[in-house]
Amino acid sequence: MAAGIDDIAIYIPRLFVDSTDFATARGVDPVKLKQGLGISRMAIVDSNQDPACLAANACLKIMQRNKIAPSDIGRLYVATESSLDESKALNSYVIGMLEQVYGDDSFEHCGGIECKFACVSGSYALYDNANWIRAGEAEGKHAIVVVSDIAKYDMGSSGEYTQGAGAIAMLLNDNPRLLQFDSKVTSTSIKNEYDFYRPFGKETPIVHGQYSNLLYLIQVKKAFEAYKKKALETGIVKMKEGETILDHIDYLCMHLPYSNMGKKALSYLLRREWRSLPRWKRIVEQTGMEEPVPKDPRGTIESILADEEYMGNDHQFNKLFTKTKEYQAFYEDKLASSLIASSMIGNLYTASLYLGFRSCLEFEFQKGVELEGKRFGFGSYGSGSSAMVFSGVVQPSYKEIVTNMNLEAEIGERVKLSLKDYEEIHENKRTPTESMLNGKNEFVLVSVEKAPESRGERKYAFCQ
Ligand code: HMG
Repeated sequence: MAAGIDDIAIYIPRLFVDSTDFATARGVDPVKLKQGLGISRMAIVDSNQDPACLAANACLKIMQRNKIAPSDIGRLYVATESSLDESKALNSYVIGMLEQVYGDDSFEHCGGIECKFACVSGSYALYDNANWIRAGEAEGKHAIVVVSDIAKYDMGSSGEYTQGAGAIAMLLNDNPRLLQFDSKVTSTSIKNEYDFYRPFGKETPIVHGQYSNLLYLIQVKKAFEAYKKKALETGIVKMKEGETILDHIDYLCMHLPYSNMGKKALSYLLRREWRSLPRWKRIVEQTGMEEPVPKDPRGTIESILADEEYMGNDHQFNKLFTKTKEYQAFYEDKLASSLIASSMIGNLYTASLYLGFRSCLEFEFQKGVELEGKRFGFGSYGSGSSAMVFSGVVQPSYKEIVTNMNLEAEIGERVKLSLKDYEEIHENKRTPTESMLNGKNEFVLVSVEKAPESRGERKYAFCQ
């Protein structure tokens, strides 16, 4: 049985910090954020928003737009790393909010859990729900997978300029209008790592930035190797002499902790794919230098990062490589459109990959590209760490969904925060009743109980 994404809805908070204002305030060159990392704006949650109401807002949008009643939904999963409770799952808060609109107990029949594995958990949630559908367990019902996060780092840290917030709801079923997943090719890698983690009780993560960048690339590459093998075995891709499997993938969507990470991932994968192909000689000639090799090619991530000579030369080679016409063509045709939304919004952790997918659909469609039958490859990464690579094909009725995509209109009128207001929100100095904006047609957080017997209970309201 087929399974895939029928529709996709986003909810992005309207408050944002401008990267130039931010860089100036932190004494960082604004060009580093704009060009070095690809960040122009970071979406910031208001003091009356939390990951549960972001998720509920995305969910409500997808249900209203598709006129879906709770009785049409068999599963509602939320994947997040911004969990509110050690025990109570985030989807239960979402169901509570949706029942304010659809009526008490309207979701009683539904199942679902909160999934956690940093940014990759949304992909595991999609995979598990696709398999629920493929197994024939759905009995004609839809599954909704919501990915919702607030990417928040310590003030003054180098992670602070890679923040963002938002949620994406994906409607899954056995006759998807948008994208049908390729079956039996989904591949994963996993390793116990401490590149980025958030111990219990700590609001912001502990991050080893450069280590996390390299680990991401290595883990995605491992999952990609397994994917390649399966794609050839199942026959979804038939490769000719001198080709790479990437030649047969029309679009690539990567996990985007910041927009330029997509470019880094693309060049990392392409260099490793192209090295053994006849085209490599021509490409290296264009760079005018030999591709550098680390002192210890089988070394650890630490030893590679400590090999300063190699890191410097590799950085230089990579810059030249990304200027070659082969890389540029690949980048423009298969990746560039997926990076646009990320630079406008920032890191959404679990939702970043799917914001990239949404961005690619909208901006490729606007270019007039015919998307039917195009294969999307997804490179999902979660710190801690695990990667998942999978793919899917755009379906004949995709235009029903994509024609109406308009990122700016869907976010609504955005409001730029002063650095003072941003810092007050960041340091939790404002209560829900002291929010900057009033919600409209959306759920907001009203209060969080402090009394010992009800500590942590959250109340939400739907603002008409
Ligand atoms: P950093 O040390 O501040 O920045 O940390 P940098 O020195 O690496 O510079 C960044 C880029 O800007 C470089 O470009 C510089 O050359 C360039 P590249 O060489 O890489 O192409 N640059 C400039 N360009 C123009 N003008 C200038 C200038 N200066 C520098 N003046 C880092 C950056 C991302 C490490 C940091 O922000 C960080 O720690 N972020 C949080 C962790 C993170 O995002 N890691 C990504 C991989 S792990 C992941 O994706 C998982 C995650 O989403 C969590 C999860 O799974 O849950 C984070």
